[in-house]
Amino acid sequence: MSAAISPADAAGAASHARAALAVNRRTGTDRGLAYDFTCPSPDSYPFQWAWDSSYHAIALSRTDPARAAAEIDTLLHGVASDGFLPHMLLWQENLRSRATEDFRIALWNGWTSITLAPPVLARAVERVHEASGDPAWLASALPGATAFFDWLHLHRAEPDGLLTIHQPDESGLDSSSKYDQALGIAETPTAEISPRWHQAMRNLLERYAPGRRPDSAPAGADAFRWVDVLFNTVYADGLAALSRLLTAVRPGDPAAAVYAERSRQVAEALVARCWDDEEGVFWDIDLRTGEQQKVRTVSSLFPILLDAVPDRLAQRVIDEHLLNPGRFWLTHPVPSVAADEPTFDPHFETGAIFRGSSWVNLNWYLHGGLRSRGRYESARELACRTVRMTARSGMRECYDPLTGAGQGATSFGWSSLVLDLMAAEDMTAQARA
Ligand code: GLC
Repeated sequence: MSAAISPADAAGAASHARAALAVNRRTGTDRGLAYDFTCPSPDSYPFQWAWDSSYHAIALSRTDPARAAAEIDTLLHGVASDGFLPHMLLWQENLRSRATEDFRIALWNGWTSITLAPPVLARAVERVHEASGDPAWLASALPGATAFFDWLHLHRAEPDGLLTIHQPDESGLDSSSKYDQALGIAETPTAEISPRWHQAMRNLLERYAPGRRPDSAPAGADAFRWVDVLFNTVYADGLAALSRLLTAVRPGDPAAAVYAERSRQVAEALVARCWDDEEGVFWDIDLRTGEQQKVRTVSSLFPILLDAVPDRLAQRVIDEHLLNPGRFWLTHPVPSVAADEPTFDPHFETGAIFRGSSWVNLNWYLHGGLRSRGRYESARELACRTVRMTARSGMRECYDPLTGAGQGATSFGWSSLVLDLMAAEDMTAQARA
């Protein structure tokens, strides 16, 4: 496939994206507050999810900057007084019981989840500010965003700055096969993966239930304590964004240097603890055993995004893994699990997410990573293949990396990030043609 996109595909992807952003919009008032957010999918995910909303704001910044700012404002209402920003905000009271029943989430403060999502928020604030150029809006958004990043540092950081997560789904990569061993479901037959994963999650939630708080660190062999490379990369990338924003809005504010330093520290700790120089990739760490989890997933590629990760390492990740046609560079990249892993599930046969399908949000980050490493042609190729896949299969939750067929939820919001990929690659003119 060449790095060119037909005007029909560009226009098709853009029109699917705009339609999903329109259909998924939710506005109203709840708890005395007006809300205006985009739900991930009307049927499957009717609430506000934090990293989804951040992606929605990035996509909206290309079509409707005022609505993009409202999306972030609505999300920032979820920042608790101590700075915690939950993964889920259950605005619609009439749907709240469904959240606790269908998603079995433990509620915090009566209306949010008790768990985290990857902190994409800072990148979203930066992008929305770029689009609106409104310093007053930025000044209003920064306190909530910095409070959340401070909360993460205070409550979830190891001494070297790396954050820990307490449940697999705090990384957003719920059923990724990298967690199978820790959940006791390794080598499970395909048909059994989904039920056994759900049972393992129920066991974990029951174990955590007594006195659980978002900031408490569960201990013991039956708890889940994990250094997730993707989560930490998103965090370090967000810290760098916060530092840039503070420098712009409050020149001389020492906090800008603090966030830049934390970002560098996390990148260095990823290299020190997660890099495998033999394999040429980064691995997550199971903190109960202290061991690297050597399952080749998309997380292993993420640190290419971070400037403080040496270029020699990033180029190895790109050449030996990301652009390797036997691993991640498939017809419709980037699969969430490498094609040479025994757990690779391209056709969604497990019905469990992040076990092989390609995801637009992950492509969006990796596209930026490729560009930051000077790999412009590959970045463009990735954008083109993403445009083609979404033009042909619509806004789906994820995609078959071999056929491009859509999988999971329909009218899925964050796949509209394709709008931002097209703008970055200047394909919007083609979409208009
Ligand atoms: C699934 C994903 C999670 C996402 C949510 C809404 O639960 O695992 O990362 O935020 O769906 O799209």
